[in-house]
Amino acid sequence: MENRKGKFITFEGPEGSGKSTQIRLLAEYLSSKDYKIELLREPGGTEIGEKVRAILLDVKFDRMSSFCELYLYLAARAQLIEEKIIPFLNEGKVVFCDRFIDATIAYQVCGSGVAPDFVDGFQKFVAAGLTPRLTILLDIDVETGLKRAASSHPQDRLEKKDVIYHQRVREGYLELAKKNPKRIKVVSSLASIEDVQKKIRGLIADVFK
Ligand code: TMP
Repeated sequence: MENRKGKFITFEGPEGSGKSTQIRLLAEYLSSKDYKIELLREPGGTEIGEKVRAILLDVKFDRMSSFCELYLYLAARAQLIEEKIIPFLNEGKVVFCDRFIDATIAYQVCGSGVAPDFVDGFQKFVAAGLTPRLTILLDIDVETGLKRAASSHPQDRLEKKDVIYHQRVREGYLELAKKNPKRIKVVSSLASIEDVQKKIRGLIADVFK
């Protein structure tokens, strides 16, 4: 299903790609133009989802099984879709989501090797085919990204996974972009914050025409 009345835009990227900063700057810019933006994040964005997030990112659960991890991400997403995304889109709002389904494909399918059928089933039966109108993929090489992330906050459970895992995640994202060139736009986040923001504003201009 496409975007109902509102606009659903997602932001993705490997660790340390600077998504949060760019989303904040973009939301401030669009708010100054009188757009009402709803900012959400995954996992999280609801009271239940934030609790699930705390479990998912807790370093003490370093032995979490791949399926436990998958289902927790999907559980948080199911709640977010029903409680926030669908109602907001039905009200005609602009919804920015910091990660969505592509993250599950990049991390759990490409990174951890979970079969894509589980994600497809969720998309079909729980998300009812909800697909972002546009996805900005902020790309960064794994070494630089992990270094950036480590310098800004203590490493979480996912960030602690090895470099090879994160390389599979990045390649997974780039592969997704290749398969969905109309929806997923890749922006290198190696440029300055201002230049990256300029590029993103150029890409979203189409949606806000
Ligand atoms: P964040 O760093 O963007 O807040 O995301 C939290 C972590 O969760 C990040 O390491 C990516 C990971 N993640 C998945 O592994 N699968 C998912 O479906 C989502 C939404 C996030």
